Amino acid sequence: MNIKNSTAIVTGGSLGIGKATAKLLIDNGAKVIITGRNKERLELAASEIGAIACHIDITDYNNFKPTIKELISKHGKIDILINNAGIGAFGELGDLTIDQFESVFNTNVFGLALFTQELLPHFKERKSGNIVNIASTAALKGFAHGTVYSASKFALRGMTQCWQAELRKHNIRVMLINPSEVTTAFANAERKERAEVDNKLRSVEIAHSIKSALEMDDRGFIPELTVWATNPF
Ligand SMILES: NC(=O)c1ccc[n+]([C@@H]2O[C@H](COP(=O)([O-])OP(=O)(O)OC[C@H]3O[C@@H](n4cnc5c(N)ncnc54)[C@H](OP(=O)(O)O)[C@@H]3O)[C@@H](O)[C@H]2O)c1
Repeated sequence: MNIKNSTAIVTGGSLGIGKATAKLLIDNGAKVIITGRNKERLELAASEIGAIACHIDITDYNNFKPTIKELISKHGKIDILINNAGIGAFGELGDLTIDQFESVFNTNVFGLALFTQELLPHFKERKSGNIVNIASTAALKGFAHGTVYSASKFALRGMTQCWQAELRKHNIRVMLINPSEVTTAFANAERKERAEVDNKLRSVEIAHSIKSALEMDDRGFIPELTVWATNPF
């Protein structure tokens, strides 16, 4: 697809991977709507990168339907949905709480799926659409203290495969991106971005991977793409 003149929604576009991806798409001629929970941070990011701010918390699934409808009618078309908003909770089996499971699954699985579902009639009607789900290498392999997060990303990987099976016949491309560690504000309660480190991935590397995957001619798509740092040790 051509990024130029396309319209994209990036959930969680106010920080980190989402913000870098929104910026790269905008720099390449797309109109980009970003969402986030913190309104002030969202509006600041939007004005910084030239995006359109839309204050949607993806866990607010009983209320976001009219806002998504409004977005579609206002902008005429949506070509790309980047399901990037995600959170983590970490702890060892023995110390886990239902709150950790509920908050992480509400965002990374339930909210993500129900948000996507609201855009589906639009994609099906147009017989085109691009859904990019941001999972993680935690979707491929479990690790100590990763029960809640890894389970949510395994679930996202499973849902992605189901949507690929359901949506190919509608010319809707569904892609999964699995970044390894990226120096962002992820899992930081103060929401402060981590300093760049030479041997770890930055948000911009993930943004480039997403853009490259999208740019393939519409006759094909990359079902799953994993991104590793070359030498993180
Ligand atoms: N950083 C890593 O090492 C890494 C590695 C692999 C995969 N990932 C995945 O990449 C995605 C982005 O991570 P990141 O590192 O860029 O995280 P981040 O820096 O914490 O940014 C997350 C973004 O999502 C928004 N957000 C969180 N919950 C939301 C909700 N319920 N509704 C709407 N927006 C919400 C945040 O804004 P507000 O806080 O204002 O809502 C922020 O804009 C996540 O899905 C994460 O699991 C990250």
